Amino acid sequence: MSFKTQALAGTKPEQYTQLLEQAQALLHGERDRIANAANLSALVYHALPDLNWVGFYFFDGNELVVGPFQGLPACVRIPLSKGVCGAAASTRTTQRVEDVNAFPGHIACDSASRSELVVPLYQGDALLGVFDLDSPLPARFDANDKAGLEAIAHAYLESLA
Ligand code: SME
Repeated sequence: MSFKTQALAGTKPEQYTQLLEQAQALLHGERDRIANAANLSALVYHALPDLNWVGFYFFDGNELVVGPFQGLPACVRIPLSKGVCGAAASTRTTQRVEDVNAFPGHIACDSASRSELVVPLYQGDALLGVFDLDSPLPARFDANDKAGLEAIAHAYLESLA
């Protein structure tokens, strides 16, 4: 397989439309959750500016366990009661944190992280895990990023079906 990434252009929503198309092309025809998480992490990490960590945590029935990612080595296990990742998983709601230092219980895996977006991954009522992005810039993620990355997380879930 040869996959060509193309530089994103236009407004932020237009860029997310392009990134979603690239993600769908990348995941097409493969249902393995590890393979698709690995390739999606790499695609997003290299396509979007100002990120220091992009990756997945998977629910093992008890807590979140780190999966494929791009960035520095990360915390391995996160209880559902802890951190931004735990909050996303337990509330089933995307967490968009403009200042991680002001988030009670934030887990600092990489001290460079200043803002964070975590999308919960549910298959029906079953928690699969979370898709987590960190940035060294405060307030890196706006509402367009949230919508765009939720759509990409949805494409990931669809690829497994
Ligand atoms: N900061 C996250 C932990 C995971 S790392 O950012 C990769 C949290 O508070 O859940």
